[in-house]
Amino acid sequence: MDIAVIGSNMVDLITYINRMPVLGETLEAPDFQMGCGGKGANQAVAAARLGSQVMMLTRVGNDVFAENTVRNFASNGIDTRRVMRTEASSGVAPIFVDQESHNSILIVRGANALLTPQDIDAAIDDIKSCRLIVLQLEIPLDTVYHAIEVGHGLGIPILLNPAPATANLDYSRIASVDYFVPNETELALLTGKPVDTLEEITEAVTELVAKGMHNVIVTLGERGVLWVSEKGTQLIPSVSVDAVDTTGAGDAFIGCFSHALVSRWPIADALEMANAYAADSVTRRGTQFSYATAEDFTARTGVSMDKR
Ligand code: RIB
Repeated sequence: MDIAVIGSNMVDLITYINRMPVLGETLEAPDFQMGCGGKGANQAVAAARLGSQVMMLTRVGNDVFAENTVRNFASNGIDTRRVMRTEASSGVAPIFVDQESHNSILIVRGANALLTPQDIDAAIDDIKSCRLIVLQLEIPLDTVYHAIEVGHGLGIPILLNPAPATANLDYSRIASVDYFVPNETELALLTGKPVDTLEEITEAVTELVAKGMHNVIVTLGERGVLWVSEKGTQLIPSVSVDAVDTTGAGDAFIGCFSHALVSRWPIADALEMANAYAADSVTRRGTQFSYATAEDFTARTGVSMDKR
């Protein structure tokens, strides 16, 4: 197994809108799409579509959505032995995408809120065989902290995507992760520093690296990706495309980056590829619907996913 994703799954209910209704208003929207989502599941699916062997540790509910979610993991070649049924609703995410392709997302965590540290201990034999653990914050923080401790105990590198932004993240319990991948909002919340300019962002990140984080990678949307490590700072520029729906682009980035890491690509190359993969995903509607396989990605962009 290459990657263990310990995280969330959601059902994305995506409404394409002309504008948001105001309080008390009923408004017609032009289009709707339902699909599988959730930051953990999205990252797992992107990595699996690119060829990584992925296991998912997650909880689904006891409702009509659960079976479809499990089937979706399986049809993407993801190991579902640690996808557990739970006496709760499945996680759902009503999403609104406007005409400029920007999104607003509500999440109801449902079964995801019930993923426990004990669930990780129970899956330890499967986790042991992985070469990367990927985490986000749509599950309880104690479970995230425990996953980090377990990963360190097993000597497995850890990637933490601190999304969605959470004010009460305990820095001392995440400081040792190998890859920390926030966006600007998440970085601001964690560091309490201004992040309006590239200089301010670099300063905030450099402080995290000085405090012990190995690689901090900030996704900056149209400004690209900033990577800071003990070895230096590098800005990887964004790839310009006509975006129609940016939902899940950050997850496409992390799934592709994780795949490249376990394929032993140098970090700079992995970031460049992840950037291109995420850019490709925003040219299509939907979350996981927009994630390409390696073959589709190469056919569309001319960029090869072969090992470097
Ligand atoms: O990052 C995008 C994801 O955030 C969506 O799939 C939605 O489910 C929420 O988790």
